[in-house]
Formats: sequence, structure tokens, C-alpha cells
Amino acid sequence: MYKFLINGGKKLSGKVDVSGAKNASLALMPAALLAPGVFKIDNTPDLMDVSTMSRLMETLGAGISLSGRLQTIDTVHVSNFEAPYELVKKMRASIYVLGPLLSRYGYAKVSMPGGCAWGPRPVNLHLEGMEKLGAEVSLDSGYIIAKAKKLKGARVNFDISSVGATGNVMMAAVLAEGTTVIGNAALEPEIIALGEMLIKMGAHIEGLGTSTVTIEGVADLHPVDFVNIPDRIEAGTFLVAGAMAGGTVTVDRCDPRHLSALLSKLEETGARLDVSSGSVRIEAPDHVNPVDVSTSPYPGFPTDMQAQWIAMMSRSTGSAVVTDTIYFDRFKHVPELVRLGADIEIKENVAVVKGVASLKGAKVMSTDLRASASLILAGLVAEGTTEVLRVYHMDRGYEHIEKKLRGLGADIERVQSDEF
Ligand code: EPZ
Repeated sequence: MYKFLINGGKKLSGKVDVSGAKNASLALMPAALLAPGVFKIDNTPDLMDVSTMSRLMETLGAGISLSGRLQTIDTVHVSNFEAPYELVKKMRASIYVLGPLLSRYGYAKVSMPGGCAWGPRPVNLHLEGMEKLGAEVSLDSGYIIAKAKKLKGARVNFDISSVGATGNVMMAAVLAEGTTVIGNAALEPEIIALGEMLIKMGAHIEGLGTSTVTIEGVADLHPVDFVNIPDRIEAGTFLVAGAMAGGTVTVDRCDPRHLSALLSKLEETGARLDVSSGSVRIEAPDHVNPVDVSTSPYPGFPTDMQAQWIAMMSRSTGSAVVTDTIYFDRFKHVPELVRLGADIEIKENVAVVKGVASLKGAKVMSTDLRASASLILAGLVAEGTTEVLRVYHMDRGYEHIEKKLRGLGADIERVQSDEF
């Protein structure tokens, strides 16, 4: 086990490169199951979640390697169609193999993903989507069993916008017989990247980036080379770090078009932004203004930035209301931030954050990926030393985070810890 030791109060400045998008990689990789051959996906991040998906795909018979940012996936020998609990319980995105396996092989046995740190994460929309396409779906001792001789195109309308269910149904529909129309489709850039790769593989998809996606099934697809998009949540996390810890930070290799909701909220805090096509430079305000946010599906303010925003508002000059309309219980970071001296009240899915003059370093516990990010951000500005335990949560979604932060002047190091 490892923990981070952070000595707070250092101003951040300089340049940091954003890595490839975790939540795009986790969709692009299983999409390779739809065609036999060798895929090369560039700008792939070296993350725990990516290696978990690699291990899962290897149990299915795929060959996967990552050298630098270039991932090679060989799907010629895929011959097993079961995603075991041991791997699925580590990462909910494992459910993404359901659509491709069902579509290409007519059978998939995928463990139900457990909950996560902040509560139940249902997959009903995924299963209903597969049934709409003609699959027979049953649950048997914790496993989803899905069978279909040949999927048939259908109208699949989601009551709520779901990134994962949209991706799964897209991957199921591309080899189905006939036309599939997905209503209320997710607009997230990661889903658009998935659609673009599927089109490059030979799929017929119209309406990417709108809430109605139409897919004409084709007989087969072919392997491709593809370049992953930048990680907008990693980029956003570094921008918030820059706004909180003073100084001027340039976030490079990002796509500012994916960050518009966050950028306008950052400007309201008083930060000064200089946006170019592939990077954002942020100058921290002397004092952070309190700014309310309410998360919503893309292009709204991302729920994956909610914890980081609360960390920043804990040092604002007033009181800010942070509402999560996507996950009502994604606030495990709040009691830990309170240990650092933050003043935050939670009522259902609303956090009222009263800015305090200073935070004081303490020992805090990571509970999930974005919660850990918020604790690190708070540690960067807290007086004294903050110890963030269970940093494996960070390693799931942030590539070399302490190296990147040290490159900006932060005093952070990863040390061995026998504390669980
Ligand atoms: C994706 O999860 C992301 N993960 C999450 O990022 C992100 O928080 C989430 O989208 C929302 O933006 C990946 O892309 C791998 P959803 P996903 O289906 O697809 C409900 C991170 O930190 N829902 O869009 O699982 C669900 O409970 C991770 O990188 C159902 O009710 O999210 C939620 O309230 C955390 N039934 C809402 O929909 C379903 O079948 C949106 O969830 C599916 C979802």
C-alpha cells in the first residue's frame, strides 16, 4: 500500500501534459472485440483501470500490450465470452464487453458489477437495451447471461442519459440486422470518440454528438488504428489545482472544447484563462470567489469534477452550493475534507461549502477516484503535512499524478504505508 505525503502551501506554476482519456480507452478497448485483427490505439493512458480492462480482454483471448502511449490489441484468438466477478468487481466499466461479445459472438456472461464506494451503480439500462435488440437476458448467481442468434435493430430510448448504456448499445447495434435508433443518447466526448472509431471500423452511424444516434447494422467490421482523445477530467483537475494553489499553470495536450462548462465556472471564481486549440493557461485569482455548480450530463458541469470543485470552494471567500444531479450520494470526500478543516454541510445531494481562511494538514482516507483527487487538491493548499491514504484509487484514473504535480512545484511524494 502507498500513501501520498503533501506539504501544502507551495505555489504551482509551469506546464503539465494531459494523458489520454480513461473513460474513452475503457470503451475503445472492448470495441476491438467487434472485429478480428490487430488494432493500434495511440494516446492510451497507463492506468490501473486500463490494465484491468486489458486483463479482462486477455481472459477473453485477446492479446494486449502498451508501449509508451501506443496500445496494441490483437483480437484474432478471442474465444471465451465470460467476464469473471474477480475482474468486474474491480471496475464497473467491465460491463462494456457485454455489447461487443453479444453482437459478435451471440453470447456473453458478465458478472453483475458490484456497487462502488458511493453507492449502487445500476446497469438496468444496459440490459434493457440488449433486450430491445432481441437478446435473451437472464441473471444467474450474480452473472448476466445474454444470448442472441442475431441481434435485430430497434428503437432504444433511454429515460436518463447514460454514458455506459449508450456505448454498450452502440457496440451491440453496429453488427445487428437493420436499423437502431438510440434516443436520449449520451453526448460525452468519450462516446463520440467510440462512435468515430466504430465508423472507421466500417460501422454506419449517423447523429454522433446529438441525442439521437442512428445505426445501420453491417455484416462485419475491420481492425483500425485510432488516436484516443485527451482526458478532460484530468485536465479539469489540474486547472482546479492551478486556481487553488496560486501561480500560473498551463495544461497542455488537452481539448478545451470538452471543458466549456468548467472553464466558464473557473472564470466566475476570478481565475484568468488563456485558451488555445490544445491548451489552457490559468492564472489563479488572489481570492477564489464562491461559485455554485450543479452537475449534469455533457455538456453540463461534469459529476467527475464535483469533488474537486468542493475542495476549491472550501477555500473561497464565501459560501457555495454544489449539487450532484447524477449521483445523489457521491460525497464520501466531504467528511475527509472536514478533517482538513473545511466547513461543508450535506443535505441529500446538495453540499453547502462555506469557505474557510485556511485548511490544516491531517491524515485523510481516499474512498474513490475523484474523492482522492479532491483530497490531494486540498492538501496542496493546507498548512502543514497532509497524508492521503489508499492512493491506489488515484492510480485508477490519474497517470503519474505525483510526478506531474511535482513538475508544477508541488511538494508531494508517494511513500510505502502499512496503514490500510
Ligand atoms: C460514466 O459512468 C463514467 N465512467 C463515470 O466516470 C461518470 O461519472 C459517469 O459516466 C457520468 O458521467 C466511465 O465512462 C467508465 P452513466 P457510467 O451510465 O457510464 C444511472 C470516473 O470517475 N444509470 O452515465 O456508469 C447512474 O446510476 C467515473 O471516471 C442507471 O440508472 O455512468 C447515474 O445516476 C465515475 N442505470 C446515471 O445513470 C443504468 O443502467 C448516469 O450514469 C446506467 C446508469
